[in-house]
Amino acid sequence: MAGLPPEKPLLRALAGEAVWPPPLWLMRQAGRYLPEYREVRAEAGDFISLCTTPELAAEVTLQPIRRYGMDGAILFSDILMVPWAMGQPLRFAEGEGPVLAPVRDAAAIAALAPGAVLERAAPIFETVRLARAMLEAQAPRTALIGFAGSPFTVACYMVEGHGSRDFAATRGLAYADPGLFGKLIRTLVEATAEYLLAQAAAGAEALMLFDSWAGLLAPSQFRRWVIEPTALLVRAVKKARPDLPVIGFPRLAGPLLAEYAQRTGVQGLGVDTGMDLRWAAGAVQPGQALQGNLDPLALVAGGIALEAEARSILGAMRGWPFIFNLGHGIEKVTPPEHVAALVRLVRGG
Ligand code: CP3
Repeated sequence: MAGLPPEKPLLRALAGEAVWPPPLWLMRQAGRYLPEYREVRAEAGDFISLCTTPELAAEVTLQPIRRYGMDGAILFSDILMVPWAMGQPLRFAEGEGPVLAPVRDAAAIAALAPGAVLERAAPIFETVRLARAMLEAQAPRTALIGFAGSPFTVACYMVEGHGSRDFAATRGLAYADPGLFGKLIRTLVEATAEYLLAQAAAGAEALMLFDSWAGLLAPSQFRRWVIEPTALLVRAVKKARPDLPVIGFPRLAGPLLAEYAQRTGVQGLGVDTGMDLRWAAGAVQPGQALQGNLDPLALVAGGIALEAEARSILGAMRGWPFIFNLGHGIEKVTPPEHVAALVRLVRGG
């Protein structure tokens, strides 16, 4: 109901409340470490079909919630569905990751169809609707998180055409032809704002922006291609939906996290594995929530290593608006019972 404080712990933390024990969810919590995911994935055939078949994608969104009861369910989709919806050819090659037809010149940018995103991504919004209805019926305390990639990280894949350790072609293009790269980034800001607002209209209660490769950039480039576009994107979302919390995750940003926190207008800050949480707490604005940052490999290891790492995070964050999460996506070799152990530990405070 409008005006009342949110009941869901994750939304309360994003509203700046130090909820304790902290709400918890895990990046990539739906995925190949779960046998029930592998089953649905096999039924769907390829990954894009899974993302665009609402019944299957909603089912996969709910799988980790049924098993573990996390406080957040993240829409099952992928950050590359925005370029896909703009018409850029995309496939997920087995064992190789995403493969796209690279966009590196004005003609390739002109061929993109940002105006087609809402129609082509319609099955994804239907997934949001279904997943929200399922959550309200089956897990009413769990908030549904919509997401997109940040313009820079999505541009990395669009320009490079595949994953990379350093995205040198992308960063090189941004220096060599900032006008052209800026055009791509602006196209992505507009398409992504529309795409996120459609997820919100369909029932997403919070939004997350994944900027996995933000930390590759030099400070000047980080300001220009991460902070500025993210600020524009958040402003566009807030203009239409001032009530909707946004979590930004500028991975590997280091000390530039402070500027990102100050200038982008996000309510939540995703903290990566390598960052000290107490330092992050000193760098963000009052009322901003932190989210993170357990090493996914500690979750693979389990046992006392997992317990020590999780307890140290809890100790550092007590009294802060905080959402327990990993510092990057869950590893596919993670034993499912380690996730159960982590949830028990965090819920024990
Ligand atoms: O639980 C969730 O978080 C569900 C949704 C989700 C996926 N990808 C599903 C997925 C989310 C939020 C993402 C984000 C994403 N996708 C990012 C940002 C976060 C990060 O990890 O840095 C990036 C960079 C991508 C691009 C992407 N998608 C890559 C590089 C790959 C291949 C790597 C891999 O793990 O295979 C994907 C495929 C992908 N996206 C899978 C899943 C479950 C695996 C596909 C499969 O089942 O075969």
